[in-house]
Amino acid sequence: MTPMLNVKSLHKRYAMAGEDLHVLRGIDIQIRENEYVAITGPSGSGKSTLMNILGCLDRPTEGQYLLGDQDVSGMDEQTLALVRNRRIGFVFQSFNLMPRESALNNVAHPLRYRRMSRSERRHRALAALARVGLADRATHLPNQLSGGQRQRVAIARALCGEPSILLADEPTGNLDSATTADIMNLFDSLWSEGSTIVMITHEPDIAERCRRVIRIEDGRISSDRLNPVHD
Ligand SMILES: Nc1ncnc2c1ncn2[C@@H]1O[C@H](COP(=O)(O)OP(=O)(O)OP(=O)(O)O)[C@@H](O)[C@H]1O
Ligand SMILES: [Mg+2]
Repeated sequence: MTPMLNVKSLHKRYAMAGEDLHVLRGIDIQIRENEYVAITGPSGSGKSTLMNILGCLDRPTEGQYLLGDQDVSGMDEQTLALVRNRRIGFVFQSFNLMPRESALNNVAHPLRYRRMSRSERRHRALAALARVGLADRATHLPNQLSGGQRQRVAIARALCGEPSILLADEPTGNLDSATTADIMNLFDSLWSEGSTIVMITHEPDIAERCRRVIRIEDGRISSDRLNPVHD
């Protein structure tokens, strides 16, 4: 079966003040449908750089990236944005919500780039909010929500377009431990409902909850292992 995501010999370099910064140094990853993957590793090892490429927010300098059977590594910005909108759900550590828009409008926003009526966008956004347990907060602005609720809105926004894959860069990095547990329970249930999830985390106990743990060190994969099944 074709993997959902297939990365081969991926490199990322930045030219900084005449210096060549070689951040990703040959990454190979295959991720199949309904995998639950943690990416860990020291600060500065290249995790976010990799995640931004996987999320079609950035492009590799060298190497191949297949999303399903589509080669996205050579795509121009505009085509990449389209692929991102259709196929990727991205969750950030800092939520990245529009501060002056309601939870509902934040969730519905990515659907504006689809051929969809306003009422269908609204209907889908409400369903996504209900899925993350926030049906009763649709009209709240981000600053009228708790940190955990804001991240739920961001997750609803990521889910709303029914992406092939959900990517999250330290989604619980700004949350206290009780709220982290809530958000992890949400990711667990999305996974059991069939979502494919890849998340960056610094926290060993979060990595242990995922089925597979990929460790990045100095721009390379230093280990890629399966956790024992817990239940
Ligand atoms: N746009 C950029 N231009 C130049 N260098 C960059 C850029 N983005 C990242 N880097 C460099 O690439 C390296 C990896 O950064 P990255 O953000 O991927 O690390 P990380 O593993 O996510 O770290 P952390 O755990 O602290 O979030 C760092 O040395 C960083 O300075
Ligand atoms: Mg990072």
